[in-house]
Amino acid sequence: MTRPAPNRQMPPTRKKAVIDIRNITKTYQMGTFELKVLKGVTLKIYPGEFLSIMGPSGSGKSTLMNILGALDTPSSGKYFLDGEDVSQLSEDQLARIRNQKIGFVFQSFNLLKRTEALRQVELPLIYSGVRNRSRLAKRALESVGLGQRIDHLPSELSGGQQQRVAIARALVTSPSVVLADEPTGNLDSRSGTEVMQIFQRLNQQQGITTVFVTHDPWIARHTQRVIMLRDGKIIADERVKEPLVAGEVERPSDAEELQGIFDETYYGGDESEYT
Ligand SMILES: Nc1ncnc2c1ncn2[C@@H]1O[C@H](COP(=O)(O)OP(=O)(O)OP(=O)(O)O)[C@@H](O)[C@H]1O
Ligand SMILES: [Mg+2]
Repeated sequence: MTRPAPNRQMPPTRKKAVIDIRNITKTYQMGTFELKVLKGVTLKIYPGEFLSIMGPSGSGKSTLMNILGALDTPSSGKYFLDGEDVSQLSEDQLARIRNQKIGFVFQSFNLLKRTEALRQVELPLIYSGVRNRSRLAKRALESVGLGQRIDHLPSELSGGQQQRVAIARALVTSPSVVLADEPTGNLDSRSGTEVMQIFQRLNQQQGITTVFVTHDPWIARHTQRVIMLRDGKIIADERVKEPLVAGEVERPSDAEELQGIFDETYYGGDESEYT
């Protein structure tokens, strides 16, 4: 099951990796006890890739995402983002990198309650001192299908729409990579599909490099490459043969999936008990 096999179809190595982490570890000091959360993670992500990170709860997915997103620094190892060594930067330098190169999308949207959509999306541009803020923000909202909702407060939007505002906010600075930690985790399946459609479209049309954390194998099947983390290590890194197109194939119901599992199964006992 767990084969750390080399990825047979890795992108050509002449491309420069956007994300290049080498033997990253993260250890938390809990009193006298050391909690080793990441135990040597090495990973290259190339421009235009769309990949998901899966793994059990507590395996270190968010810890890894926070390091990739320059929200946190590794205990040891190297991290090159767009060729720049960001493993040991100061807080201020990390903030600059975050603002310029990373777009983050969270499970819980993280929008400001009393701020309308357009202004939410303008915020990262204010920090980076860009002009034409409202024009860029409007364009980003249009690209996620919210051109008609720019004056709405979060409370006036559905969950799926709020997440789309968050995606527009992540994209407006034209980051090198978009990192999304369970972006569909709080959404019903229809809104989740819409959000996946947007990520897929942005990846295909604009070549935006996207890294997704998900618990849901169905969601992972919509990405091009799946990385499995377990206990702070990568245990598999596989290319998805034929990624699903969001919204094209209906998700099987739980009952259908169960049926698929049980079709051939007979677990012993006297057959007359069952017939
Ligand atoms: N700031 C911290 N201090 C101490 N321990 C932490 C800290 N952050 C995370 N951990 C621990 O690190 C481990 C990995 O946490 P992490 O949040 O990365 O898991 P995860 O894979 O994202 O899980 P989930 O699927 O539940 O979101 C957990 O055991 C957690 O308790
Ligand atoms: Mg997590």
